[in-house]
Amino acid sequence: MNVGIPQTPSRRIAKQFEDRLRSAPDRHLAARMSRLVSAIAKLVEEERVDRADLRALIRFATEVGHASDARRSEWVLLADTLGITSLVEQQVTRRPPGATPNTIAGPFYRTEAPARRDGESISIDGIGEPLVLTLQISDLDGDPVADALIEVWQANADGVYENQAPDLQPDGNLRGRFRSGDDGRVIVRTVRPKGYAIPSDGPVGELMKRLGLSPNRPAHLHFRISAAGFETLTTHLFDSEDPALDADPLFAVDPALVIRFDPCGAGGYETSHRFILARAHPGYEDT
Ligand SMILES: [Fe+2]
Repeated sequence: MNVGIPQTPSRRIAKQFEDRLRSAPDRHLAARMSRLVSAIAKLVEEERVDRADLRALIRFATEVGHASDARRSEWVLLADTLGITSLVEQQVTRRPPGATPNTIAGPFYRTEAPARRDGESISIDGIGEPLVLTLQISDLDGDPVADALIEVWQANADGVYENQAPDLQPDGNLRGRFRSGDDGRVIVRTVRPKGYAIPSDGPVGELMKRLGLSPNRPAHLHFRISAAGFETLTTHLFDSEDPALDADPLFAVDPALVIRFDPCGAGGYETSHRFILARAHPGYEDT
């Protein structure tokens, strides 16, 4: 047996590729590509990938590319629905135990949401079941975080965001910017959100159908909470009664983010939630 010569085709390919990258000008890229090719080669061997498999994979990738344009990225959808986007987000925003988990922001965030006073409603058209959220912003010691900026955005009672259908909802509907008081509290009036389906009319949707995966996201509200000296928190709160809770196609559900909407008054709901921010380490940059 020759010492130093890899014994399987996949290892030989991986070794040859690695050797060819010895003088690559971009060392970081070379190291990443080397590991990627090695992992793919191993997988091809283990799964006994044949010509038909490879043709099908290339056809799928081509379709994903063709379904993408400036308004819609089928590649982003693929990364989202395979859990990769959520995994990367969790990796780059790891929080200490007890802090509220970070999640993906999703595609419907806008920086220019209307500024709202404590207790004001973000529902401009008033359509939907009223919901009152009492939010407490705290640090890990349980102390209130005053003057935090709380940005909230959500879909309407039909599961549609204002910027998805500008002709059907008033500009800025169901999104707003609040400030926490000295006690770290803020009250947000809104309407109960509805779940919605992610786009499923392209090749990713076709793949999900073949796998029996649902495109339905459970009903939720989005939040982005920033305060001086703390890591910015981008997160969701999910409706505990939504049947899609266990199969979020974007993998954003965390048990710490599931809340109950309690009935109150005539057809309305209320809930309260504590967001716990982690202190920013020196050199932290909000990206
Ligand atoms: Fe959403």
